[in-house]
Amino acid sequence: MSLIDRPRRLRSNPMIRGMVQETRVSADTLIYPLFVVEGVNIKEEISSMPGQYRYSIDRIGEELDRICDSGVKSILLFGIPKHKDACGSSAWAEDGVVQKALIYIKKNYPGLYCITDVCMCEYTSHGHCGILDGKTVDNDKTLEVLSKTALSHAKAGADMVAPSDMMDGRIQAIRNTLDGNGFVNTPIMSYAVKYASSFYGPFREAAGSAPEFGDRKGYQMDYHNRREAIREAELDCKEGADILMVKPALAFLDIVRDIRERFEKPLAAYSVSGEYAMIKAAAAAGYIDEASIVCESTVSVYRAGADMLITYYAKEIAKYIKEGRM
Ligand code: PBG
Repeated sequence: MSLIDRPRRLRSNPMIRGMVQETRVSADTLIYPLFVVEGVNIKEEISSMPGQYRYSIDRIGEELDRICDSGVKSILLFGIPKHKDACGSSAWAEDGVVQKALIYIKKNYPGLYCITDVCMCEYTSHGHCGILDGKTVDNDKTLEVLSKTALSHAKAGADMVAPSDMMDGRIQAIRNTLDGNGFVNTPIMSYAVKYASSFYGPFREAAGSAPEFGDRKGYQMDYHNRREAIREAELDCKEGADILMVKPALAFLDIVRDIRERFEKPLAAYSVSGEYAMIKAAAAAGYIDEASIVCESTVSVYRAGADMLITYYAKEIAKYIKEGRM
């Protein structure tokens, strides 16, 4: 048969497949989320996320060693405080759990790049991402506490801050506060396009941050909406976000692609707790092969257009890259 084009020619062996491979993943672009809990001698497994733990600062070194050994260079820190109150005051305390962790990590692991999640939900007694006015989260009051929190992270040594609250105007508020205090060079990674998602379920167990009443639909995005993602990203770009993020990842790859095509700023995607939990559970049941599913879904996020990936599988992915599996 006379066929001019035979795509299979370029699939005939691993050499040629490697040569024409369009998407390449580097460990430099992986970010590992890490939970640090107040207290001593704590290493607690998160039951819905097997293999993920909460560490107290005195135990966190074990995990940081593994992260560094794996070749992952960057972490995203989440704090779980002892004390919660209505306004989430532990979030910006100088001796807060994230602040103390930053001081420890920067001193003992100076090569590790530390990004901090900036949000109120782990610190408020009601579990919402900001200051309440009755049953709703007051946007502008929340901007003040978010800014204070971001500044306290920068002071404690954060290399980058990542607000995840979805209040309007937060990037501008945080940028102004950082700049006004001499942190002009601290970048902001904005959770610009964050959907109200059931994929965060396991995280809320991990961080003890489930809202006491209602849900987060009053501030996080409706997953029916695509144009709204562009609007959110546009606003955050104007307000000074250095990096944009789409979250969750796997069920929102169309949005990752949209943002990639419309914006020049670097783009991160967050493969969230529920994505991790589903793969773990299916693998444990013997329904899928964990490593190959992780490779395939990771590549799909980069193929959709992400430059960086925040993932609980970061260490394993770094290993798969070294082994030439992806
Ligand atoms: C804080 C925050 C959440 C996640 C990251 N930052 C939870 C939420 O919005 O309820 C989710 C991360 C994950 O599920 O892995 N607001």
